[in-house]
Amino acid sequence: MPVESKYDPKDMHFRHLGPSGLKVSVFSLGGWLTYGGTQKGNIVKEIMQAAWDHGVNFFDTAETYATGDSEVEMGAALKELDWPRDEYVLSTKIFFGTGRKEPNTRGLSKKHVVEGLKSSLKRLQQPYVDIVLAHRPDAATPMKEIVEGFTQVIRNLNLAYYWGTSEWSAVQIQEAIMIAEKYNLIAPIAEQPQYNAFHRQRFEVEYAPLYKKYQYGTTVWSPLASGLLTGKYNDGIPEGSRFANHAEFFSDTVKSLQNPEGKAKIEKVRKLTSIAEKLGGNTTQLALAWAAKNPNVSTVILGASKLEQIRDNLGAVKLLDKLTPDVMEDIEKILDNKPVQNPTYGRDR
Ligand SMILES: NC(=O)c1ccc[n+]([C@@H]2O[C@H](COP(=O)([O-])OP(=O)(O)OC[C@H]3O[C@@H](n4cnc5c(N)ncnc54)[C@H](OP(=O)(O)O)[C@@H]3O)[C@@H](O)[C@H]2O)c1
Repeated sequence: MPVESKYDPKDMHFRHLGPSGLKVSVFSLGGWLTYGGTQKGNIVKEIMQAAWDHGVNFFDTAETYATGDSEVEMGAALKELDWPRDEYVLSTKIFFGTGRKEPNTRGLSKKHVVEGLKSSLKRLQQPYVDIVLAHRPDAATPMKEIVEGFTQVIRNLNLAYYWGTSEWSAVQIQEAIMIAEKYNLIAPIAEQPQYNAFHRQRFEVEYAPLYKKYQYGTTVWSPLASGLLTGKYNDGIPEGSRFANHAEFFSDTVKSLQNPEGKAKIEKVRKLTSIAEKLGGNTTQLALAWAAKNPNVSTVILGASKLEQIRDNLGAVKLLDKLTPDVMEDIEKILDNKPVQNPTYGRDR
């Protein structure tokens, strides 16, 4: 029987995930702090469906999110939604474990990479993920063992097709790639770094050689700086918002909004609003489109706790073409935080 397609890309854009043949929608959806955390049950499925209805084909979670419950909730939703498995891309991340005290239930030892991923797949009710990410570098495990562990889950166990990194330094990523080349192991294809209008240095400068040399891909997180770039925190902390619900985790961030640097950020958000409105969008959509405009971004991972948020956020697709060089220059003037690239002494390529 032919597979009945349930997917319509609408006006979504797609990019290759790094040097691989895998294509991901330029906006994707992730489950940190939301699914299995503040949101459970039907709402998770509805938000994922709304994303899918706007052309999103890539979903991200991690073993540690809601100590495994994010995978449980997203897995249950995927099961009910019953999309053809070859029409969506799924990632999870291994490193932090699920909060147990035994030392081998976290990190990137071969044991935890294999066992952690097997446990993730059980929670997700999936035979494999498309991409598994090392959620952080592991200073305690030799790099060769880490690369061997990820090679094993892909090559020998068929638990994933690709692997990647998250918040690794460029040097660590380069080391992993070189070890893979030297020992005929599988190299990582993409990094999952934070990237938004207020957090640019590592993405734009440190990783620049990786994009050039390896076409290294990126699945970027917190594109709205956890909501700051929506404008919702301009006049305080609204009840029910992330900064209110996770007050302890975000206490430094919230405090920093009172200092001159924080106040300057809020002022910049207000100024971005006027550009967004001129383009026929809103501040949130402008911030998301700005991140997606960077060609080194493979996909911008959205977070949404409500249906209206995901619908609103995916309106960013329509702004992509409106971010002309002139508009980008106007945004740059407001942000006033463009990182300086390393000098090439006239030897650019
Ligand atoms: N690899 C890593 O270390 C790492 C770290 C963090 C995240 N991630 C991944 O990246 C994904 C996205 O990160 P993120 O959730 O921090 O992204 P974000 O876009 O910076 O923040 C999303 C949050 O902002 C608020 N929001 C979103 N759209 C809104 C709208 N239109 N209006 C008002 N508020 C809105 C919602 O929170 P409230 O409604 O609760 O206020 C939502 O949960 C995660 O789910 C995860 O998959 C990875």
